[in-house]
Amino acid sequence: MLEQNYQISGSGAKDIASSVEAAIASRALGPGERLPSVRALAAQLGVSTATVADAYRRLRERGLVTGSGRGGTRVRGQRPRSWRRTAPEVAEGVRNLASGNPDPSLLPDLRPALAAAAAQLDEGRARLYGQAESSGQLLARFAQGFRADSVPADDLVIVGGALDGIARALTAHLRPGDLVAVEDPCYCGILDLLDGCDLRPLPVAVDRRGMLPNRLERVLDRVQGVVLTPRLHNPTGAALDAERRDALLAILALRPELLVVEDDHGSLIADVPLHAMAQSRNRGRWAIVRSTSKPLGPDLRVGALSADRLTAARVLETQQATAGWVSLMLQHTVLAALGDPGLVGLLAHARDTYARRRTAFVAALSEHGVHVDCDSGINLWLPVEDETTAAQNLLTRGWAVRSGTAFRLETPPGLRITTATLSPGEAEALAAGIAGVRPPARMLRTA
Ligand SMILES: Cc1ncc(COP(=O)(O)O)c(C=O)c1O
Repeated sequence: MLEQNYQISGSGAKDIASSVEAAIASRALGPGERLPSVRALAAQLGVSTATVADAYRRLRERGLVTGSGRGGTRVRGQRPRSWRRTAPEVAEGVRNLASGNPDPSLLPDLRPALAAAAAQLDEGRARLYGQAESSGQLLARFAQGFRADSVPADDLVIVGGALDGIARALTAHLRPGDLVAVEDPCYCGILDLLDGCDLRPLPVAVDRRGMLPNRLERVLDRVQGVVLTPRLHNPTGAALDAERRDALLAILALRPELLVVEDDHGSLIADVPLHAMAQSRNRGRWAIVRSTSKPLGPDLRVGALSADRLTAARVLETQQATAGWVSLMLQHTVLAALGDPGLVGLLAHARDTYARRRTAFVAALSEHGVHVDCDSGINLWLPVEDETTAAQNLLTRGWAVRSGTAFRLETPPGLRITTATLSPGEAEALAAGIAGVRPPARMLRTA
């Protein structure tokens, strides 16, 4: 049954898709409206059902329509931007394991670093236009870190955190509507970022060692970019090892010019080594970002991007044309914090603590018969049958975790649990709670 009056036209998949897209743009077709069935439209236009199915597939990939088969194909509703990243509010008295935040008690006291940055001001005043740019010392510091991990660092840009760097690298080469291969599940901030840049995610399944090479290969011809997280994957904690990195590089070698952007946001608190595409000398367009959010605190908004020469030049150009630069006050604060002799010990302590908390929880779950893989980072993914009910059940027991909807595309439902602040005693109680709210053989998939 047609709910819409708009006459779709075209004789090929591309024309038909364009006709629907034009109708959506002009609002002749509104959010939620149902498109004709493939069969009905094929008959109406005198084309094969395969042609219409292809047109609908293109529209789905571009995020303009949803659904297929019996449920019908509908125009996608307007979603408010950035809804995924906004963690739900947590009531007082409920233990918040939903935020994805680092443990504040493991962050350094920034007051000495802020004082050092203040001391660099000219009589307490901020620099003027034309007087500020990237700090050479900070660039050198990040370059040293990248090179220590065998990542080239000849072309670096100081950016406003990992997400800023990723967005700038993607938009340096991609255009609205382009498709980007992402991990599935994927960090919700990346999905929001793609939305914000009018780019479309194509899911690539992951296991504990990150993106699956055969799944990447399936979408390789259709994407204009790839975003991947070499370690501390959010939400699963996956980390690439050398073998997986090489297998992914072998697939990517089929398209040496394809842009690959890597998110090494957690480098300074990582307890596993880096294995990244950026370590290869054979890629044409690449970028890798690092951030100070996890080790020093998210509000600093400072990170660094290392990239091939063209990508770095374009990122710098657009940065200069938009935000201009990352405040030197922040850069000097970061430089002072990173240069503090006490920081090495503090970071080592943070790394160990996060790893201990994560592994204690994984072990506690396992003792309760729930087996989860998680080798790095501060988040863990727990597959469940019904994520809304599972999250609600845990909430009534005093635990706030995130339903997986914000993170997944084709992955079956799950919960994201932030382990950053979870003490071993709590780990045991939460694991028991999870096992307790598990309806007989239904709530959890433990495969
Ligand atoms: C995988 C991943 N990338 C990026 C970020 C955000 O980094 P930044 O604050 O530097 O933009 C996060 C934050 O949790 C993350 O988990």
